[in-house]
Amino acid sequence: MISLKVASIVGARPNFVKLAPISKELRKEFEEIIIHTGQHYDYDMNKIFFDELGIPEPNYHLNVGSGAQGVQTAKMMVRIENILLTEKPDFVLAFGDTNSTLAGALAAVKMHIKIGHIEAGLRSYNKKMPEEINRILTDHCSDLLFCPTKTAVKNLDKEGITNGVYFTGDVMVDALSDFIEFAENNTDILNQLELNAKEYYLATIHRAENTDDKVRLEQIVDALCQIQNVVFPCHPRTEKYLKQYGLWRKLIKHVRVIEPLGYLDMLMIVKNANKILTDSGGVQKEAYILKVPCITLREETEWVETVDDGWNVLVGADKGLIVENAMEFNPSSKSQSGVFGYENTSENIVKILLSCNVDQA
Ligand code: UD1
Repeated sequence: MISLKVASIVGARPNFVKLAPISKELRKEFEEIIIHTGQHYDYDMNKIFFDELGIPEPNYHLNVGSGAQGVQTAKMMVRIENILLTEKPDFVLAFGDTNSTLAGALAAVKMHIKIGHIEAGLRSYNKKMPEEINRILTDHCSDLLFCPTKTAVKNLDKEGITNGVYFTGDVMVDALSDFIEFAENNTDILNQLELNAKEYYLATIHRAENTDDKVRLEQIVDALCQIQNVVFPCHPRTEKYLKQYGLWRKLIKHVRVIEPLGYLDMLMIVKNANKILTDSGGVQKEAYILKVPCITLREETEWVETVDDGWNVLVGADKGLIVENAMEFNPSSKSQSGVFGYENTSENIVKILLSCNVDQA
């Protein structure tokens, strides 16, 4: 039997976490090639994820690197198109909402290659976010839309997308359940940082709306400086703007700023935090699954279920609200309604891909 070929297109940290469980399942049934755009290139934003999560070495590295939105996305498209012309995959898989996701989807749709979008249907309804544009356009190019939540299915329905939509659960749950036990037994990050479980706050900030806007970034820095015992793995883009806006020295005087962490250390530091302050989508979810109260430094979230369930609160970049919630926010009930509690999502996605091809034959 000839196996069908799937091209998985990734480039940035959150793509890699989603690729890991999918790639593992995919390779049981399909030939997979991995195309890495090189959007993230530092060891601790990139290679460490392949090493720790056991993701196979990419077949193609496009070395696109950083750049303005248009430049970065266009460079990726040119290089992806060339590879798709040579490789002629039966399917392209796009993950999440990064510029690499959009570039892969746009290159593939114009070549009439079928696209599967992992983490389809998410919306913040804030078009100022580059990720929101990436999500909308990728969904509208895709043939198979794998939704992590029921809200995502509804969001697609509102935009008239009903064909090829599957409610599958979230692949990040697969990644987390595959690695949490290993992380518990094999990482020593709390000792290394001399942290006591449940006695520190974990902060992560990297969204353009927070980093690129001096007023917002300063409010966030002032809040973090006021809260005691904050650990802050700092994304390179955030470090760049903190230095540019003259906020770096103030921050490092009061806050424990560290390099970005690998996946296993990150799981442990999330799990053992007292509370989390973040603008990351993935970290909001991980906080919920690991039952850590989350304070989200944005005005809206794609993961509305975590807020509705009482484990997440939206505070924007308002210094007073950030500090107040860091002190006082707690879920009203310790129970959860299991928003992300669906297992074997990656296996189900691969089954759907397989059945699609049977239908076509
Ligand atoms: C990207 C994604 C975002 C995702 C985030 C996770 C887009 C539009 N955004 O944002 O959805 O949540 O990744 O981290 O795709 N840089 C480095 N080293 C690296 C990578 C980036 O120094 O390895 C710096 C560069 O200064 C670069 C800046 O970070 O200019 C921004 O990188 P970019 O790839 O544009 O997006 P992220 O902000 O990382």
